[in-house]
Amino acid sequence: MKGFDLIDQEENKTIALQKRRGNRDQNAFGTREFREANRITLDVTYMLDAPGPGSIAREDVEALIPKVLTAHERLQREDGDISDHGIAMTGWQNLPVDITKEHLSDIQSVAKDLSAEVDALVSLGIGGSYLGIEATFRALTHTYFNQLSSAERGGAPEIYFLGQNMDPDFFRDTLDMLRGKRVGINVISKSGTTTETAIAFRIMRKMMEETWGADADQLILVTTDKEKGALRTLAGEKGYRTFVVPDDVGGRFSVLTDVGLVGLAMARIDIEEFVAGFQAMREISSGNDFWNNPALVHAAMRHAAWCAGKKIEVVAANSTALYWVARWMEQLFPESEGHEGHGMWVSPSLYSEKLHANGQMVQQGERNIMETFLALTEHDNRIPIPQTDNDLDGLDFLVKRGMDMNHVNRMVVEGPAYAHYQGGVPNMTLEIPRRNAFNLGQLYYMMETSVSISGYLLGHNPFVQPGVEAYKHAMFALIGKPGFEKEAQKMENQLKGMKRVSV
Ligand code: PA5
Repeated sequence: MKGFDLIDQEENKTIALQKRRGNRDQNAFGTREFREANRITLDVTYMLDAPGPGSIAREDVEALIPKVLTAHERLQREDGDISDHGIAMTGWQNLPVDITKEHLSDIQSVAKDLSAEVDALVSLGIGGSYLGIEATFRALTHTYFNQLSSAERGGAPEIYFLGQNMDPDFFRDTLDMLRGKRVGINVISKSGTTTETAIAFRIMRKMMEETWGADADQLILVTTDKEKGALRTLAGEKGYRTFVVPDDVGGRFSVLTDVGLVGLAMARIDIEEFVAGFQAMREISSGNDFWNNPALVHAAMRHAAWCAGKKIEVVAANSTALYWVARWMEQLFPESEGHEGHGMWVSPSLYSEKLHANGQMVQQGERNIMETFLALTEHDNRIPIPQTDNDLDGLDFLVKRGMDMNHVNRMVVEGPAYAHYQGGVPNMTLEIPRRNAFNLGQLYYMMETSVSISGYLLGHNPFVQPGVEAYKHAMFALIGKPGFEKEAQKMENQLKGMKRVSV
């Protein structure tokens, strides 16, 4: 039988873009035209006056403006409850301007050298030491990146992620993809002691050392604290190439540090353009003109919604690319806001898929939901809808009106935005013009600013995560890690006294 043919389809632009990036052919991100065409906007029309309980009026938002402006001003001058172990965790604010061209080219040069040596890169890390990389990588590359040829990937190696969970089957399946290939790894952990990352690293290191002996050391990159921790010590002993997680930047705010940049450079994503996106939003969101500052409006809207009883934020993307960004937001906001009984649960959703599942709940369930759409304005590709002979599904009218899949997908935002609003779900739309590193940089900086302001409004430090530490300690105690004997004993006693209920 003849192989499947792609009828009426143009060349895949995502692949074309990957090839361009592979040739270091950059977007004109320094020009005014590019910046104007790539400006993220926030439409909050449907946040206000939704019918039903928990409605937010413009006056509610206006009443918050002085508090938001004060919070912003305190954030900029690094004042308040913002420290972790005595260090102000606001280093992310100035990263976009502090980062040097030399540093970016050092990263690019290591990425180029390692890419020449390997077929596949495995990024090892969890939480903030993982998600920003995978989110950005997925948002900007082909869905089946690793199945493409090296040329179609723009010369980048295949990219995999391990250490973000402890699922042995997932781990084993990933190993199958690596069998017989030349493999490099980038192990990322600020603390150097996170169990998931450490176990994944042990396993990978053993296999690499047994396969390649001392040559394996050249294939291992380490991204960790600049001077302390287990990884730093081992890197010193082995002579691994190392990168730094800055002291004053927390994991979920670290995508613009070496944590994110090394992996992104390996995937041939333009890290200079990425930095420029952060810089652009830093500029846009630095002023105190509330209604012209999308980060401040975003923070105020979410806070007003939370005060009005909205406890769940559905972050709905109309593209699989941006769904990964929604997942990044799922980490950034709850890990920062979830203190002292506060904060909104963030539910990342891909529409229209999820409209056929929890879309029912959004429309008619408990009115404790608000919604944020991540709308991609222009997809890389256009998919035409073909005419049929008999119009049995009644969709020929789309063809007659010149509508393609892209047009219908736009309605996957506009339809639910209207319907959910009518159903009492305040919602806002973040319009992301195109899939590029500049736009992601803007979006990340805007969200980092917004969640920091949220911390001030809620009255607690958004840069620490004692809840995450609590699970880490419980796990250390359960697996009998030395140093956690007291916790283990306490747990054992508590568990003994607990009546188990099991059916
Ligand atoms: O945002 C955070 O701080 C966390 O999600 C951490 O990034 C995560 O726990 C991983 O920590 P580490 O880099 O120390 O391994």
